[in-house]
Amino acid sequence: MIGIVLLGPPGVGKGTQAARLKEALALAHLSTGDVLRQAVRDGSPLGARVKAVMESGSLVPDALVGEVVESALSVLARSSGTPAGTGAAPSGFLLDGFPRTVGQVAILDEVLARTGLTLDHVVLLDAPRDVVLRRLTGRRVCGSCGALYHVDSKKPGKAGTCDACGNPIVQRPDDSEESVARRLTVYQDETAPLAAEYGRRGILRTVDGSGDPEAVFARLLSAVGGALV
Ligand code: AP5
Repeated sequence: MIGIVLLGPPGVGKGTQAARLKEALALAHLSTGDVLRQAVRDGSPLGARVKAVMESGSLVPDALVGEVVESALSVLARSSGTPAGTGAAPSGFLLDGFPRTVGQVAILDEVLARTGLTLDHVVLLDAPRDVVLRRLTGRRVCGSCGALYHVDSKKPGKAGTCDACGNPIVQRPDDSEESVARRLTVYQDETAPLAAEYGRRGILRTVDGSGDPEAVFARLLSAVGGALV
């Protein structure tokens, strides 16, 4: 089983590339941001606890996201990676948006030790600040299923309507100017330092996230070993 973490600043394209990598390598994909946004949409107790924190652009507490990741990886390890009803076992896991603090690195180490899963590649997807800002300010998402769009590079077939489910497309609450500024600062202070730690462990792969999604994906695939399944 292969284990991959995607690191990178807000808006660099982690979600866009994770969807492709998941498909290409048959991975179980966990985006902590997606799980937390879904909890907010569902109005669950978890959603109620994290809504305001997420909208402000700050990080939710380590222990809360740690529980989400522990639960997903434990299921994967216990089931030998065969989700009920699919018949096909994922060939590994892809974490997108976790870990993003030193404390979360320790949580992930503990979960991996407990489950017997291993982390093979930590991919730092990076791009200049102006590229990241353009992607964030132009991003639109389906308010229902979370499908991703962009006002320039990925328009829906019918303006304002999700191609996948037909529901309205909106701007993410944390893509406001104020929240984006906060997220970029939090990334520099809390998450960027993790690259050095994974570099010391010899599993850091740095990938240029600029250019069109296909070009980025080709570089990403090559960085993690490249073979399509
Ligand atoms: P999260 O959802 O993880 O957000 P993020 O890390 O800020 O990343 P984004 O989702 O903003 O961007 P992305 O890199 O996925 O880019 P995307 O593919 O969408 O977290 C959100 C919040 O949840 C956090 O702020 C925090 O509060 C909380 N949270 C989550 N995880 C947590 C954790 N571990 N600990 C604590 N709190 C946590 O692309 C952006 C746009 O660009 C899209 O419109 C896309 O279409 C476009 N695009 C992408 N690639 C390209 C390309 N190559 N060319 C042109 N356009 C492109």
